Amino acid sequence: MKPYIGSSTSRVDGRAKVTGMAQYAGEFKAPDLAYGSVVTSSIARGRIARIDTSRALVVEGVIDVLTHENRPKMASTDEGYHDEVAPGGSPFRPLYDDKIRFNGQPIALVVAEDWETARFAATLVHVEYEVEDHTTDLHVRLDKAYVVEKPDKPRGNAAKALAAAAVRHEAEYFIPIEHHNPMELFAATAVWNGNGKLTVYDKTQGVQNVQRYLCGVFGLNSDAVRVMSPYVGGAFGSGLRPQYEAVLAVHGALKLKRSIRLVLSREQMYGLGYRPATIERVAVGAKADGTLDAITHDAIAMTSQYEEFSRNDTSWSALLYKSPNTKYEHKLARLDVPTPCDMRAPGAATGVYALECAMDELAVALKIDPVELRLRCYSDRDQNTDVPFTSKQLKECYRKGAELFGWARRNPEPRSMRDGTELVGWGMATGIWEALQMPTGVRIVLTANGYAEVSCATSDIGTGTYTIMAQVAADMLGVPIENVTVKLGDSLLPHSMVEGGSWTAASTSHAIAVTADEVRKELLGLAQKMPDSPLAGLQNEDVVLKEGMIAAKQDPNRTVSVAEAMRRGGVDRIEHEKSAEFKEDDKHARNTHSAIFAEVKVDEQLGVIRVTRVVNAVAAGRIINTKTAASQIMGSVVWGIGMALHEETLVDHKFGRVMNANIAEYHVPVNADVQDIKVVFVDEPDNVVNPLGIKGVGEIGIVGVAAAVANAVYHATGKRVRDLPITIDKLLQ
Ligand code: MOS
Repeated sequence: MKPYIGSSTSRVDGRAKVTGMAQYAGEFKAPDLAYGSVVTSSIARGRIARIDTSRALVVEGVIDVLTHENRPKMASTDEGYHDEVAPGGSPFRPLYDDKIRFNGQPIALVVAEDWETARFAATLVHVEYEVEDHTTDLHVRLDKAYVVEKPDKPRGNAAKALAAAAVRHEAEYFIPIEHHNPMELFAATAVWNGNGKLTVYDKTQGVQNVQRYLCGVFGLNSDAVRVMSPYVGGAFGSGLRPQYEAVLAVHGALKLKRSIRLVLSREQMYGLGYRPATIERVAVGAKADGTLDAITHDAIAMTSQYEEFSRNDTSWSALLYKSPNTKYEHKLARLDVPTPCDMRAPGAATGVYALECAMDELAVALKIDPVELRLRCYSDRDQNTDVPFTSKQLKECYRKGAELFGWARRNPEPRSMRDGTELVGWGMATGIWEALQMPTGVRIVLTANGYAEVSCATSDIGTGTYTIMAQVAADMLGVPIENVTVKLGDSLLPHSMVEGGSWTAASTSHAIAVTADEVRKELLGLAQKMPDSPLAGLQNEDVVLKEGMIAAKQDPNRTVSVAEAMRRGGVDRIEHEKSAEFKEDDKHARNTHSAIFAEVKVDEQLGVIRVTRVVNAVAAGRIINTKTAASQIMGSVVWGIGMALHEETLVDHKFGRVMNANIAEYHVPVNADVQDIKVVFVDEPDNVVNPLGIKGVGEIGIVGVAAAVANAVYHATGKRVRDLPITIDKLLQ
């Protein structure tokens, strides 16, 4: 039997998803279900002077309208609202008081017998505000930006080295606000089980995080709330922190002692977290041979008035390339907006965009091929910490990606390549992300008939977690994958951090492996109790579970069937739960890498840009499932195209309100924008990062993509647009 790990296994949950059997947070049924609709603020800052719910309350079918004035008891301290991934500051408290902190803030929940009535009645809630001046424009708050991150020890003297460099490039890059726009709307169904107990189906990347948060907010005992999220229709980081729909649904259920379903509207999704608008200033200085003298990278991003959200945008620049002098600094400006949050490869998607465009501009100035420039600055060590990587096959990414793309045929001269009326541009960039892992618990139940159940409280946000957990368990237990049932997305299951940071594949796989070890140990013990056991004298590490057998590694003739061992031992199921920790040292850096090559065709008269080809070559350790992993990278590339050319949340700063809060006017790539995308994984054996050599691929795929496209647009047109998205107006300006 070929191992499942490393294969192209189709999603084990695919059938449930395409047939509609998979249920999402807003689809669970409950007896006597009531429906909620949220009223949101129409000002960005101030307070609610008066909220009149009388017209909503008289609508037939309306049960109640909840506001800060009639809410149940909620935690009065910040601690009650802190979740496991909360940034510093004082978390937002939905319906807590009369204060307005951002436009689109939830201020009332209308509950009715059906959803249409709730939604209609929500339009009848009348609010009078005391309005205060607000600021939502990052560019007007730059003078008040303050430093949140800088290197402990800047390397060398970057300013001096830059001034003395033979060739210099310095520029400012801008990335606007982007919203996640997952297909599934944020939703919660709070099922009232009586006696104050609730089961909350919530759209989230972390059921245990939401469970603890809800207990904190409402002062509930841990056994009063169970949170479930068996399926998630995309989240991309927007579901890492508990969102307000869960609070509001529970709020209503506790007050009315009734089950409540609440689904946000697409417009309301724009009142949640987002990728913060960021200004990135990068300077690079090099010798004529393309070796770097200095890199500096400063970023200014936005955050809310009440929390300090920031991610590493800048230190990638000091880490990635060999440079004796570096300096970076990250600043934040406080605005009257909701707190930003993680969005796929937070910090890197933005910071590396700026770095990789700057490297392209330096290559142009040096008249060196962009791939060649990166090879001349290549580093086998993390330049910040001066330690080697657990593995780094980035050179192979450059080689394989370039070969597959046909990079050698590139004419370096801008505007030199054409296809009919279109200018053709070829650009490339490097990607880098972290290979993180988190302590995780797993339970395995193996029954004598050869079926296994493996469970963990993690989630599958569409990434393929169900599938890879089934693959790893099938291999470790020696059973066919069809015999493995995976349970996840339930706060009662063994512990897991939120699913994020690309750490889930490595973390759950390792936890399955160590738990399967315990199962094997028990089976071996049973087998060795048999008279004349063929496995007598062997240690746990001397045997494997394979095709229903406990088998000696060295001698295929020494076997006992699992069923036989269990039958003779008088057990019909073996159950183990174990928590896996990771041994990490500070002697290694843990990263994934990639090389992206993009082709654009630009209509010379109209400025219309099409991304016709992308090759993304990725080094991410062992790939558990080549199919789901390639899908992760492909989806990331699509988003990178969106980031480069389409996506931008537009705020009317006069009102501090999002103007394009819908996916008609917030442009995401559609089928016509997505053409040929090739994903290639290079071999990257790694026995240091973790025992299975897994690094995770959820985020690496987007890093560098926007830069590769922007660099291709420059190569096609000779025009450098540093301010994303690269729209026709900017290109033809
Ligand atoms: Mo990811 S942005 O950690 O879901």
